[in-house]
Amino acid sequence: MYKYVDRYIINGKNRLKGEIKIDGAKNAVLPILAATIINKSESLIHNVPGIKDVDILCGILDSLGCKCHFQNDVLIVDSSAISNVDIPEKSVREMRSSIVLMGAILTRYGQVKISYPGGCEIGPRPIDLHLMGLKKLGAKINETHGYIICECDKLKGTEIHLDYPSVGATENIMLAAVNAEGVTIIQNAAREPEILDLQDFLNKMGARITGGGSSTIKIEGVKRLNAVEHTIIPDRIVAGTIMSAAAVTGGDVVLNDVVVSHLKPIIAKFADSGCIINKYDNKVHFKANRRIKAIDIIKTLPHPGFPTDMQAQMMAAMVTAKGTSIFSETIFESRYKHAEELIKMGANIKIEGRTAIVRGVKTLTGAEVCARDLRGGAALTVAGLAAEGTTIVDNVDVHIDRGYDKLEEKLNNLGADIERGKV
Ligand code: UD1
Repeated sequence: MYKYVDRYIINGKNRLKGEIKIDGAKNAVLPILAATIINKSESLIHNVPGIKDVDILCGILDSLGCKCHFQNDVLIVDSSAISNVDIPEKSVREMRSSIVLMGAILTRYGQVKISYPGGCEIGPRPIDLHLMGLKKLGAKINETHGYIICECDKLKGTEIHLDYPSVGATENIMLAAVNAEGVTIIQNAAREPEILDLQDFLNKMGARITGGGSSTIKIEGVKRLNAVEHTIIPDRIVAGTIMSAAAVTGGDVVLNDVVVSHLKPIIAKFADSGCIINKYDNKVHFKANRRIKAIDIIKTLPHPGFPTDMQAQMMAAMVTAKGTSIFSETIFESRYKHAEELIKMGANIKIEGRTAIVRGVKTLTGAEVCARDLRGGAALTVAGLAAEGTTIVDNVDVHIDRGYDKLEEKLNNLGADIERGKV
């Protein structure tokens, strides 16, 4: 049967101007949704983005026996009656980050079964650090026929050193350790702002966690947790995507409801490219010249380095910049798929392993291109705004909608001309 997919039809060269509210962060809400499992009670969550990944995770929570009610940007999850500890294979395939449910279900139920997540669009994504952390806490792990079965009598606090500051592994260990006996210390923890948001959420529930946002996180296990109300932090990657869109169109945009400190690595690069960025308490005024300057080197690193989730959108900004930019992707192996599509639009990009050399061209030409992953899809949309004529971006619902809530409406409100169609 032929499956229809959504596409964007973009008429480029409109200058973006106006104000935009930045929604709650995808990468904060997903582990927080996993955390709702632990309290056996109600969680009231504000500023939840209307994105596909949230729908998928709510579907998984429902299948476990939780009740999710989502209206506007408020989500209520009641986890009092969980009846199932198997995470369906289809869900893990659909959303790899559902692996973060493992720690939460294990700490509540003493067992969890999940299918082994394979590679994904941006390369292989092993989970050895997740499993090592859970084992150290006392879980017995059996890997058979593509499934991981995790069991424990009682998790016990311990010291865990991560060889690499993995975001997902840090979150999984935090979730598992909340109810463990004694104290857990995570060394070389990920320092992303979303980790601190998870800590805040869990502490409001009654957990005792300190150090979130630094390399050392301390979790004192507690016996009881309670109902919780929380507001999700703004999405720094959505904010960065809007900045890229403003940068390629010589735009003048005010981004409201942001946390300026979370945006520092992104703002620093746009400032180097000649954009004028004024920072206020919770907003940023972003102005770009007609043609921005290339940036010598953009190297993706764990936070507070430049985020890998902004590499593609930054590349879309650099393809029409004056001069040559060099990208170095150190986090994921196959994260340059958008480059092939940008080349169809007239970009001059050479890929050598994990390095991309981008020689700025004066303008791009509209073409039919295909989103191959979430951020790559956002990058093609940004490039379409800079291109002469019409650009078609395919696979919008498959990839872009996973992490952006109606991106086209947001950009159109700033003066873009994007229509959503089907093919
Ligand atoms: C999270 C984000 C994703 C972002 C990434 C890096 C969510 C839902 N997703 O993904 O958007 O791009 O952080 O900022 O928050 N690794 C191992 N073994 C492990 C775990 C990870 O080798 O057990 C490697 C990965 O293959 C990758 C690197 O560590 O090369 C970073 O991965 P990680 O920080 O775990 O990213 P995710 O949590 O999957």
